[in-house]
Amino acid sequence: MNSELNSLYEKFNQYKDMNLSLNMARGKPGKAQLDLSNNILNPELLGNYKSEDGTEVRNYGVLDGISECKRLYSEILEVPEKNIIVFGNASLTIMYDYISQCMVFGAGDKPWAAQQSIKFLCPVPGYDRHFAILEHFGIEMVNIPMNSEGPDMDMIDEYIKDDKVKGIICVPMYANPNGITYSEDVINRFASLKPSAKDFRVIWDNAYCVHH
Ligand SMILES: Cc1ncc(COP(=O)(O)O)c(C=O)c1O
Repeated sequence: MNSELNSLYEKFNQYKDMNLSLNMARGKPGKAQLDLSNNILNPELLGNYKSEDGTEVRNYGVLDGISECKRLYSEILEVPEKNIIVFGNASLTIMYDYISQCMVFGAGDKPWAAQQSIKFLCPVPGYDRHFAILEHFGIEMVNIPMNSEGPDMDMIDEYIKDDKVKGIICVPMYANPNGITYSEDVINRFASLKPSAKDFRVIWDNAYCVHH
């Protein structure tokens, strides 16, 4: 065993000896991270509670989000401000609600719930909670294998000839669990997909776009 590996084992055993009981669930910040937000509502720091257009930000009021916040995310996400809606802090509830709305109201055709045996394409391995949402609504999932560039686009092109295939849900950057980022070629192919279903939707869960 080389010395590098030895020292890794040593470190590993040190952690084991600490007998830690950690909650490793995703999205749980540590206390120090939480404390960073303590001053957010401190008026001395903030000066006032008005946004630049005069909106009182401690109350409801702006359906699509505070404009300063949209501008901030526009830079981070590289998306024009007009295409941004600021919701609450859990994207899973948005994704659930979106699929739910498609089921009830449709996405440019009859409600999905009123169409028989609809399907979604799912790059695998993928994110279990995406799959849980689709499963909950009884949407059949079709596995699309991942390669080092992203999902198998030839296979996707074949599947979307079927108008029962209503969409695909994907994580384009650092896709869990294997960390693959879709190549430019794959993304261009996404942009030029020609699905038979006129209510086809690409759900682009770019959850890790700032995680580098
Ligand atoms: C790909 C992906 N999307 C969404 C989420 C959940 O994000 P949120 O905390 O915004 O619901 C996670 C969390 O692990 C994730 O891995």
